[in-house]
Amino acid sequence: MENPIAVIDFGSQYTQLIVRRIREFGYFSKLYQPSELRDTGNPPAVILSGGPRSTLEPDAPDIDFEYLRSLNVPVLGVCYGMQLLNTKFGGSVAPGHTREYGPAALIPRNGGPLFEGVRDHSQIWMSHSDTCKMPEGSTILGENLDGIPVALQWADGFFGIQFHPEVSHTDEGKKILGNFLKLAKNPTEFRIESFKHHLMDRVREEAAGRKVVCGVSGGVDSSVLAALLHEAGVDTRYIFVDNGLLRKDEATQVQEQFKTVGIEIETIDASKRFLDALAGEADPEQKRRIIGRLFVDVFFDAVGDDVELLAQGTLYPDVIESATSGSIASTIKTHHNRVDKIMELKAQGRVIEPLDELFKDEVRDLGRSLGLPEPVVGRHPFPGPGLAVRCPGEVTDEKLEIIREADDIFIGLLRGRGWYDRVWQAYAAVIPTKTVGVKGDERCYEYALSLRAVVSEDAMTAEWVHLPYELLAEASNRILNEVKGVNRVLYDISTKPPASIEWE
Ligand code: XMP
Repeated sequence: MENPIAVIDFGSQYTQLIVRRIREFGYFSKLYQPSELRDTGNPPAVILSGGPRSTLEPDAPDIDFEYLRSLNVPVLGVCYGMQLLNTKFGGSVAPGHTREYGPAALIPRNGGPLFEGVRDHSQIWMSHSDTCKMPEGSTILGENLDGIPVALQWADGFFGIQFHPEVSHTDEGKKILGNFLKLAKNPTEFRIESFKHHLMDRVREEAAGRKVVCGVSGGVDSSVLAALLHEAGVDTRYIFVDNGLLRKDEATQVQEQFKTVGIEIETIDASKRFLDALAGEADPEQKRRIIGRLFVDVFFDAVGDDVELLAQGTLYPDVIESATSGSIASTIKTHHNRVDKIMELKAQGRVIEPLDELFKDEVRDLGRSLGLPEPVVGRHPFPGPGLAVRCPGEVTDEKLEIIREADDIFIGLLRGRGWYDRVWQAYAAVIPTKTVGVKGDERCYEYALSLRAVVSEDAMTAEWVHLPYELLAEASNRILNEVKGVNRVLYDISTKPPASIEWE
């Protein structure tokens, strides 16, 4: 797809969100580094993001301002982006003594298109330390309660705001961004239906008649990738590795799911290999490493080292963060020759990542548009190392069995009561401590179990869900009655940060 609205990344933690919000408005948008300004082609509009640096630093990130002006399109500077534009227009930036982080009020001044329909005294979210000293001829578009300018216009089409319109804490953020987008010059529409056709053409072209192998896990990303390759008619082998760390009946369910959309998958039962390799290992990082390395070994043992083309479900956020969490290499952070093999394939142009332009919710929409059933596209994320990260300490059959049974009860209740689709992720984890209880007339020492349900937008932060007490009570009663080896059920009320979503 051509001509995205260009978001220039100066390093703010919220930059990805800007791209996402623009796409929510139905326009195509992409992130670029400041040095890539000339690669943006013919952008309909440009946004300069916020960032952690100060324009006062000698090597502060910069932009080719002459080129930016020559594009002759609307430009919006956000926080750092605003300060940078202010200096370019001849103003200056003064160092702040404290970093202003958090809510403030916005009072629009002097009208203009950016704040059209924006109410007075709405909350805005600030994150900056320096303040702008505006140059002659610029216009104040908005102030805070202390009369300090928080929005400026320097010239026709050049706007700056000292707050983040992309975060939900800025009440009128969407409206302000929407107003700016109305000024964009012929923006490309972003609709998943048309994007699907673009992706099908792309995979056919990239495959170029070669045989593709695609690892599937039953998770959303790899399922959508498989459905895309299938729909595009690309000759593909779909490989599912059962690592023995899956949830109750998951291997069978995954096969059934794929059958309903006409995809035959090859299942490799490597559970014994994984569980043997994990025996006696209690260190979380070691466990991850063992699972990651073995996965790659099992995968290439099955498909052979001579893979023509490997398809991976890497998503846009992974590309942006240059992490690879949606890929096979994701679970392995250490050096490993089979992982190097993936890097080698990549260097040879033998890895395709067709979902690398999409966010998670867009992948879900694509899945729907490809006819995947709702239980597949709406599935909660599940970690690559599976139940191992929900089983602190050594992984044993006994603990895995407890997690499987308890998780099945908990998830079943969430589904039955309409909560499953309202939470980002939910699960049961076993706490590797035996605590005292009474069963019958006897004292018993059995495991404690933790239930967790969180809401999150992107897994970077998460909040625990206020599930109804009745639901928790029923889950606890059923688990204590039906699951052998458990005598205590806890509900995890930790936010991320500081806790993570998983236990390990
Ligand atoms: P944490 O526990 O880091 O999890 O808050 C954030 C999200 O990532 C998933 N997760 C993983 N996914 N390999 C993966 O592929 C892993 O090692 C891993 N650890 C956590 C987790 O389920 C959550 O959605």
